[in-house]
Amino acid sequence: MAYGLLKGKRGIISGALDEKSIAWKVALKAKEEGATFTLTNAPIAMRMGAIKQLAEQCEAEIIPADATSTDDLTNLFTKSQEVLGGKVDFVLHSIGMSPNIRKGRAYTDLNYDWFKQSVDISALSFHKMLQTAYKMDAISEWGSVVALTYMAAQRTFPFYTDMAEAKAMLESIARSFGYHYGKYRKVRVNTVSQSPTVTTAGSGIGGFDKFYGFADSMAPLGNASAEDCANYVVSLFSDFTRMVTMQNLFHDGGFAMTGVSEEVMQMMQNQQ
Ligand SMILES: NC(=O)c1ccc[n+]([C@@H]2O[C@H](COP(=O)([O-])OP(=O)(O)OC[C@H]3O[C@@H](n4cnc5c(N)ncnc54)[C@H](O)[C@@H]3O)[C@@H](O)[C@H]2O)c1
Repeated sequence: MAYGLLKGKRGIISGALDEKSIAWKVALKAKEEGATFTLTNAPIAMRMGAIKQLAEQCEAEIIPADATSTDDLTNLFTKSQEVLGGKVDFVLHSIGMSPNIRKGRAYTDLNYDWFKQSVDISALSFHKMLQTAYKMDAISEWGSVVALTYMAAQRTFPFYTDMAEAKAMLESIARSFGYHYGKYRKVRVNTVSQSPTVTTAGSGIGGFDKFYGFADSMAPLGNASAEDCANYVVSLFSDFTRMVTMQNLFHDGGFAMTGVSEEVMQMMQNQQ
């Protein structure tokens, strides 16, 4: 059921690679709730073509941008404002990639050039996005910016390797820029810490299947799906959350606050 939560709002949605992507679900939900927006992804992701299908469905224009390039981001905000007919009200940062994870490097054997790339793509790009928008004054008053993160920023998950550091930085950028953008234009900046979700980025992490099941057994509500995440993100873009800023918001069915569940205790007992 649609509520018209984003009626009249304009936005930019990054990171929709294929229909499993969290950003893909956010785009569909934002459209359903009445928003108009542009879609963006790295030029290389465009070649895969799936995003065109989403763009048709959402009647959205695609503006390619490598999120590590401030020139590309300047073009993204310039063109988005042209296409949408004014400043944007919401921005989704749904971007993450670690060459170390892709290439199976352990945390104790990281390649530092790749580490820099992980941080640039997954965290600094968020600062670049915000700083570009800030300098161009491209986000309306009371606008909302959301980035997706993972709990490895707070607690250790050995398989998450250098992405843990990138996510910790991403969440810190939300707090720091949230202060400055709040003062400047009452723009709010938050991160949503999502459950493990079956996507290209998610399933690339070693042992993902086992961990997905573990998290599902720990969380009293079970893992949050990509669709649930889209609903939450849309609520953060809406006017119902105007005073929420500089937060890292757990969207994980209660996983982050659970010490142990009866299901996990049972699993341990079964092994004895
Ligand atoms: N899947 C999970 O388990 C999970 C859990 C918590 C948080 N997240 C986060 O959610 C976000 C979206 O990931 P997803 O799970 O939907 O996977 P995904 O692979 O569908 O999305 C990642 C996106 O990042 C884009 N990207 C990579 N490099 C880029 C660059 N240089 N410029 C612009 N875009 C670039 C990719 O093209 C892709 O669209 C990521 O930040 C991820 O860390 C995912």
